[in-house]
Amino acid sequence: MEHDHMKYFIMASILTIIGIITFILFDNGYLFQEQKITFDEEQSGLEDQIIIHLSHVTAENTPKGLAAQKFSELTFEKTNGRVKVQVYPNGILYSDNDELEALRKGNVQMIAPSYTNMTDIVPQWKVLDLPFLFQDYDHIKNVFTGETGEQLLQFITDKKIKGLAFWSNGFKQMTNDSHPLLEPEDFAGNTFRIMPGEGLKKQFHALGAKTITTSFTEVFSSLEKQMVDGQENTISNIYTKGLYQYQPYLTLSNHGVLGYAVMVNQDFWDSLPEDIRLQIEDAMRETTLWNMEKSIQMNETQLVEIQKMEDIHVYELPPDAKDRWSKHFKTLYQETKQEAGSDLIELIGNKSAKDSQN
Ligand code: LMR
Repeated sequence: MEHDHMKYFIMASILTIIGIITFILFDNGYLFQEQKITFDEEQSGLEDQIIIHLSHVTAENTPKGLAAQKFSELTFEKTNGRVKVQVYPNGILYSDNDELEALRKGNVQMIAPSYTNMTDIVPQWKVLDLPFLFQDYDHIKNVFTGETGEQLLQFITDKKIKGLAFWSNGFKQMTNDSHPLLEPEDFAGNTFRIMPGEGLKKQFHALGAKTITTSFTEVFSSLEKQMVDGQENTISNIYTKGLYQYQPYLTLSNHGVLGYAVMVNQDFWDSLPEDIRLQIEDAMRETTLWNMEKSIQMNETQLVEIQKMEDIHVYELPPDAKDRWSKHFKTLYQETKQEAGSDLIELIGNKSAKDSQN
């Protein structure tokens, strides 16, 4: 009898240990993963697989989150499984305060912060934050992709990082906790949360408002704790992070663009074989074009969701009010022109849809 008990105990222990090991292997992606990978004759095997850790701060269901995922899939496909891009969304690895340092040190291989976050080290990109510079989505595409995109990436002088592409999250809108923001006077005395960026600070100051700079991961709590009265962001970020919960007044102002600089650690990049680099660039090009379409579509469908919410008041900024806002931005334009050069502002301004038809 006692002997039987012992047998059952040993059997149960063995089964438990096997269960735990299976769970750990599964949880770490070691089980079943091989089935997804298509090998060809030349592929040397998983031990040679190159891993790119890509860290970003937005939700997965956003233009950036989905582009990161798409890039991961395309890279895997184009390199025939030799490169795996592991995506870390929602700032789970690094917030936007520390992701740049993590990239420099090679703790992650890729990041995609907003270009606003980068304007301290790439001051020319302040131009991209000028209010009402971008006319429409074609304009964004014409600036972010092709030759102009390439030219803008060349402004990165930090030897530790290499720019690969610009992705878009679309146009930014204004939100507030107590009243609609339609006239410049509606901003007076209010405090707005902004991303780190001199241009955005000046934009709100020009409207008579104050600013507080926080990382993206702190936006929700700064609204919840009423540290700020309002903020600017894309519909996609407002929707996926639930920012509307504390910001019932939403103005569709399309006053600015939230774009991302997709960057890779330079040493890591240099260490990659030439063919792999070309395949990654190819995946990046395809992802970027996909992102341009996806960002339009996501902001549209998520706006419909917000409009369905009874407690959220959505306003469109009338054209004459836009003109009144613009008057306040004249000094900001002049200062940016002096700093970044009027050529750059003209170059970007001339990329609007009507000019690109030629
Ligand atoms: C923000 O801080 O509002 C954005 O930069 C977040 C993001 O990366 O979209």
